[in-house]
Amino acid sequence: METELSRIGISLPKSLLDRFDEIITARGYSSRSEGIRDAIRNYITYYRWMSDVHGERQGVITMIYDHDQRGLLPVLTDIQHEFREIVQATLHSHVTQNRCLEVVLLHGDGTQLKALAEKLMSQKGVESVKLTTISLDE
Ligand code: NI
Repeated sequence: METELSRIGISLPKSLLDRFDEIITARGYSSRSEGIRDAIRNYITYYRWMSDVHGERQGVITMIYDHDQRGLLPVLTDIQHEFREIVQATLHSHVTQNRCLEVVLLHGDGTQLKALAEKLMSQKGVESVKLTTISLDE
């Protein structure tokens, strides 16, 4: 049981916290702490699931990012060039004036697919990155 509690202090952009608060209110969480605990559990589950991605795979990355983030577009292009051996195609959709949706089709070793997803995810201005894969091994 998670009985022993630790306290942490975190700094967040106000807009991110506002969006988070909207969601926890809509979902009926009793407190912000409860919502954050749930989010951290989901993060851990997602990361563990990502850790299981290995062997030859076909995959898709779905990514949302801020078009207005200075310097982000060439960085994202450079990263995709760096991983060109696993990137088969990219589909770009301009969602709003400043938000872009990009779908990247991948084929290659699972660890490489994961490395690309993690590199994209760590860029400032990238809102979300989801990696979905299927195994070709069986
Ligand atoms: Ni766009």
